[in-house]
Amino acid sequence: MQNDLLLKAARGEETERVPVWLMRQAGRILPGYRKVRASVKDFTELVKTPELACQVTLEPVHVLGVDAAIIFSDILVIPEAMGLPYQMLESKGPWFEKTIKTAKDIEALHIGNTEDWEYVVNALKLTRKELGDKLPLLGFAGSPWTIFAYMTEGSGSKTFSVAKKMIFSEPELAHSLLDKITTTTIRYLKDQVKAGADLVQIFDSWGGILGHDTYYEFSLKYIARIVDELSPLVPVTAFPKGAYFASEQLAKLNCRVIGLDWAINAADARKTFGNKTLQGNMDPCLLYANETSIRKATHNMIQSFGTRNYIANLGHGVYPDTPVDHVKCFVDAVKEYKAQ
Ligand code: CP3
Repeated sequence: MQNDLLLKAARGEETERVPVWLMRQAGRILPGYRKVRASVKDFTELVKTPELACQVTLEPVHVLGVDAAIIFSDILVIPEAMGLPYQMLESKGPWFEKTIKTAKDIEALHIGNTEDWEYVVNALKLTRKELGDKLPLLGFAGSPWTIFAYMTEGSGSKTFSVAKKMIFSEPELAHSLLDKITTTTIRYLKDQVKAGADLVQIFDSWGGILGHDTYYEFSLKYIARIVDELSPLVPVTAFPKGAYFASEQLAKLNCRVIGLDWAINAADARKTFGNKTLQGNMDPCLLYANETSIRKATHNMIQSFGTRNYIANLGHGVYPDTPVDHVKCFVDAVKEYKAQ
């Protein structure tokens, strides 16, 4: 591969410089994305049209000069594959007409198969072909707990009290749903690898709403199952947003890379995670600051993490109203970094 910085860093090998990409790089920050998005009926049409998904995936590579492409898709492909379709409401986010409430609802869910996500497989194959061996292509999925949260709540939530009600009042039911989601997600990620994904990231976006004990039982245990199945195939990144309280347990995951949010101090993370590769963790809101501040914060971040076993990124997805020039400044600042 011509630029294999990210894969080398993910495997723990030495690199000529720190690799960089951004979560949500293939989205509304880019004018090309907004144009393609305006040309389709809705978000799901874009996700389900491989030519458009491929075009949108490649735009940040051309415009921002990032060191990896992440396939344009969504974590909600999984609930839909299992029989729970979603809509992406304009400026509101995901919405499910049906939600999971009972054992019967769980029994009715289907364990997904290749034909349920063929459009993602085709988008990956096409993107792999277009990228050639220029850059790594990243695949992804939501963590079982994060998918569980959407399937039970039916949308985002401030408290996730519906999802949490099930784990506390009907834990066996909750485990049966998490088990089905996990089995489906393993198949899904294996298909992504077959179709050309060089690394896969598991987004545990709502891990942080659980507590120390519940995190292990309802999220980490299931992430571990996925990691154990995928790690022999490709490097795996676990991104446990807001779940730093569980870092000692997270450190035992059999994955090479841990994604960090901005709440975490680099020195503490290095101590906890040993020789794993760390990815992150600038506050996405820092990209609203001026370019001098962005450059300085980026260099400080790299200095704190060190250049080995490190992938520069934000601590969560880039916000859609971030000026593209500021995003580009972040990417360039990583590339310019010289160790002091
Ligand atoms: O560039 C990339 O990172 C690849 C594409 C990507 C999208 N969603 C596209 C998208 C990825 C990796 C995701 C993951 C995802 N989706 C997560 C995990 C990451 C995270 O941010 O924690 C979650 C929780 C979702 C669910 C989801 N999808 C929500 C809550 C929303 C609405 C909020 C928002 O940002 O508007 C989406 C919509 C979505 N997914 C958009 C994009 C580009 C915006 C919708 C649009 O264009 O209309």
